[in-house]
Amino acid sequence: MNHPILPTLSRLVLIVALCVGLTADGRAAEPAARFYLVGAGPGEPDLLTLRAVEVLSSAEVVFCSKRLAERFGDYLEGKRVVTGYWRLFPYYGRDLSDVPPAERAEAERLAEQRAAFIAEVRAAVEQGATVVVLDSGDPLIYGPWEWCLEEFEDLDPVVVPGLSSFNAANAALRRGPTRGKHTKSVILSADDWPGKTDTIDRLAAMQATMVLFTMRADLADFVEKLLLGYPAETPVAIVQHAGYADREQVIRATLGTILDVVAPEDLPFEYLLYVGDFLDHRYRPRQ
Ligand SMILES: C[S@@+](CC[C@H](N)C(=O)[O-])C[C@H]1O[C@@H](n2cnc3c(N)ncnc32)[C@H](O)[C@@H]1O
Repeated sequence: MNHPILPTLSRLVLIVALCVGLTADGRAAEPAARFYLVGAGPGEPDLLTLRAVEVLSSAEVVFCSKRLAERFGDYLEGKRVVTGYWRLFPYYGRDLSDVPPAERAEAERLAEQRAAFIAEVRAAVEQGATVVVLDSGDPLIYGPWEWCLEEFEDLDPVVVPGLSSFNAANAALRRGPTRGKHTKSVILSADDWPGKTDTIDRLAAMQATMVLFTMRADLADFVEKLLLGYPAETPVAIVQHAGYADREQVIRATLGTILDVVAPEDLPFEYLLYVGDFLDHRYRPRQ
């Protein structure tokens, strides 16, 4: 039998909770922010977090790539979606007069685009809009929009973490990269950029698990540097399009054989290179 007072009581509890800053399920309510950097996850929309969905639903203006706008169209309906800006971080924070003359034109072009983007964000915020920059994967792992957190510091930006391609690729491998035969650490790295001291050959000396965010760098060059630290028989895996139900692919080899197994020119932008003995490490021998 329905109790006559209980529904009224639960409504009252909900109203009190909302008044003291709790959401209906008892979590602390997020203070409304004006600028969000949101991670969309690495692949299919079902890898979006509930928090990202909640923030997207409250946004009026969303900046993202065309690819993301298509993939997440269902969540962007009725919003102003701006897709023209991409990869604005190079030279950010640098004095243009210190940029080498050969790079000056590119640095100026990017500075102009950045200024246009910043002006658009600020205009939207001034008009009272909630603005989201939507990035793939986790926005703070080799994320091209991280500079925005400094640029819009005065807006007290909020970051919504996303699942990285690293997480999706671990799942594709069905192996934990923290469980090596003799090591327990994972190094996330990328190509050797000028001025960075943690070069791949130095990192390789530890023989821990290494995961390389490849970003169009040369596979043969990665392999050459890795071989300075790891034995040629070390297992490697390439995970392409991690997190996409129809395209995800894993290629396995060793450091010594990987270049016989894949043609670097056929690899997509979206692939991670894994190195380490965790790849064939088991709790028990195969039955
Ligand atoms: C600019 S980084 C962005 C990484 C992203 N923030 C993340 O957390 O996955 C781009 C690089 O990440 C890797 N990547 C991104 N998405 C991927 C995917 N779905 N599968 C495999 N690798 C991916 C590739 O190495 C690509 O070159």
